Amino acid sequence: MDDLELDTRYCDVRSRTEALAAPLSPEDQTVQSMPDVSPTKWHRAHTTWFFERFVLADTKLGQPYDPAFDFLLNSYYEQVGPRYERSRRGHVARPGAAEIGRYRVDVDTRMRQLLGGDLDQHLRDLVVLGLNHEQQHQELLLMDIKHVLSQHPQPVAYAPRPQDDTQRTSDAGAPRVIEGGICEVGATGRTGFCFDNELPRHRCLVEPVTIDPRLVRCDEFVSFIEDGGYARPELWLSEGWAAVTSLGWRAPLYWSNEDGAWRRFTLFGTEAVRPDDPVTHVSYFEADAFARWRGARLPTEFEWEIAAASSTTDVPFALEPPSTASGDGFYGSVWQWTQSAYAPYPGFRAAPGAVGEYNGKFMVNQQVLRGGASITPEGHTRPSYRNFYPASARWPYTGLRLARDAR
Ligand SMILES: [Fe+2]
Repeated sequence: MDDLELDTRYCDVRSRTEALAAPLSPEDQTVQSMPDVSPTKWHRAHTTWFFERFVLADTKLGQPYDPAFDFLLNSYYEQVGPRYERSRRGHVARPGAAEIGRYRVDVDTRMRQLLGGDLDQHLRDLVVLGLNHEQQHQELLLMDIKHVLSQHPQPVAYAPRPQDDTQRTSDAGAPRVIEGGICEVGATGRTGFCFDNELPRHRCLVEPVTIDPRLVRCDEFVSFIEDGGYARPELWLSEGWAAVTSLGWRAPLYWSNEDGAWRRFTLFGTEAVRPDDPVTHVSYFEADAFARWRGARLPTEFEWEIAAASSTTDVPFALEPPSTASGDGFYGSVWQWTQSAYAPYPGFRAAPGAVGEYNGKFMVNQQVLRGGASITPEGHTRPSYRNFYPASARWPYTGLRLARDAR
C-alpha cells in the first residue's frame, strides 16, 4: 500500500464509523445497557484516541486535544496509565457526541498531515493497526447499539429492513471432509495485514473429520428448544448449566415467545424468527449443548480453518445475517464458536510496549470464534482471523456449524 492508498483507506475507515453513528442521536450514543457494552460515542472517541496516543504522540503533531482523554478513553492499556472503569462508561455525559465529532476532525487533520509526509515503516504499521482496530470497533458499535436499543421499553429499530432483502440462493455444497494429517495453519505474514495472534504459521495434527457445509438454522434451534434442550442438564457443560439455571436462559438472546410464536429483536426492530436464518446470539454453552443434542460437536479452530479454505471471504455487509440458503456462511454471516481455547500459537511473541497488550494478554478463559459476521466490515476478515469471547457471551453475532469425527 503506497502513501496515497493509505490516506484513502484512512479516510474511508474514519468516515465509515461516522456513517454508522449517523442514525443515532446524542442520547442514543450515551447509553450503556450492560457492563460489556460501550456507548457509541465512546467507540467514536476511543478509536480516535488510539491514533492520537499510538501514532501522533511520538511525532511533532502530538499535542493532545485534551489531556484528560488518556484517562477517559484508554480501554485496557496498563502501560499507558490509569483509566476510567469500563462498566461506568455510560456515566460520562461529557464530552458529548458533538464534542467527540470535533475531536475526530482535529485528529483527522493531524493524521492526514502526517500521512502526507514521509512515514517510517514503524509508524505506517501503527496506522494500519489503528485502521484495523477502528474496523473492529465498527462491529462493536453495531452489536453494542443493538443491545442498547433492545433494552428500550418499546424496542426501536436502528434502520428499516431493506426492501430488497431476498438472498440469492446458492448451494452450500457437500460436507467438507478433512482426511486429517499434519496441516499448516495461521497467517503466512507475507501478504497483507494480520493481527499478532494469527502468527506464527505452524503445523498441527488434525484427525479425520467432516464439517457441515452450512450454519445451524433458527428452525433447527427451535426444535432443540421444543425438545427440552434448555431443561436437560445432560446436554450441558457444568458452567453452561449453571448459566441456564441462574440466568434463566430459555432461548437465544433477543428471542421471545408470544402465543407460541418465536420473535426476536434485530437492528430492523422486533420481527418473527425466520426459519432459514442462521441462529445467532447464542453463547458457547448453547452452541455446545445444541451440538451434543444433535450427536455432533463444534469444530476446532484448525478444523474450521482448513474446511473454510475453499470458501470466499468477499461477502457483502448486512445489519443482520443473510439466510442460510445463500451459501456456506463460512464468512460474513455469523461468528462461529469453535471448541478451541484462545491460546498463543507456538512461538507467539507480543509486540514490545503498550500495543503488545492488544491481543496477547487476553489468552485465557476465552473461546476462539472464526469466520466473521454480517456486520464485520467488508474485507476485514480472512481465513486465519481469530476472534475471541468468554463462553457466556451472547451479544456478539455468534452462531455455529457442526463437526463430526470421521473415524
Ligand atoms: Fe479498542
